[in-house]
Amino acid sequence: MRIDKLLANMNYGSRKEVKKLLRNGMVTVNGLTTKDPKLHVNPDTDLIVVGGEKVTFKEYIYLMMNKPDGVISATEDVSHRTVLDLLAEDDRAFDPFPVGRLDKDTEGLLLLTNDGQLAHRLLSPKRHVPKTYFAKVEGRVSETDQQSFSDGVRLDDGYETKPAQLKILSIGLVSEIELTITEGKYHQVKRMFEAVGKRVVYLKRIKMGSLPLDDNLPLGEYRHLQEKELETLEKDSPQP
Ligand code: URA
Repeated sequence: MRIDKLLANMNYGSRKEVKKLLRNGMVTVNGLTTKDPKLHVNPDTDLIVVGGEKVTFKEYIYLMMNKPDGVISATEDVSHRTVLDLLAEDDRAFDPFPVGRLDKDTEGLLLLTNDGQLAHRLLSPKRHVPKTYFAKVEGRVSETDQQSFSDGVRLDDGYETKPAQLKILSIGLVSEIELTITEGKYHQVKRMFEAVGKRVVYLKRIKMGSLPLDDNLPLGEYRHLQEKELETLEKDSPQP
């Protein structure tokens, strides 16, 4: 990675400010002063010192996004915008990827990280990390549906879902619900409602493990996870 990008990522200032640090001879790489912002460095092997202090590198990045409708939760797509397109270049430089998938039209909580182990643990079917969704569903959602979801329903491909918790928020021509599931089959929430003869018309993930979506995060925006939030996720998916 270029040294100016790397130092900007490490919060040594904007690219412009970092260039100034370099110009002023404040940066050494393996003991030699460098003024070249384009110099390629390897954070794993090169010793980089700024103003006499060794730079210790942040290896991992953890982001919480409020995913908007119309964006694909993948790292690349030939024809659609992906969630990576919503990231600042400095964050993209860490090569984050989405932890699991939300449908193109699903909104809400999406984690992005380059920490493959944490992602794997959060998604592992063995760990049953709960995910909670808010949905608007055509038709009157009932206590019978609640019981069916709690017992497990059979999806269109014959798969029997694990017990899921359905909370009914309002009943009407379009009902509002919260559903907590502990697995992540393709289109799971939509297919669970299809299994009881109903159609999801709006879907938003509001919680992953014990981590709720930040209410103050506008659609399409993201922020870095706080240390405490990361600890929450680590607790939700402990190492074996
Ligand atoms: N279930 C769905 O049907 N869609 C999603 O995006 C997530 C869960």
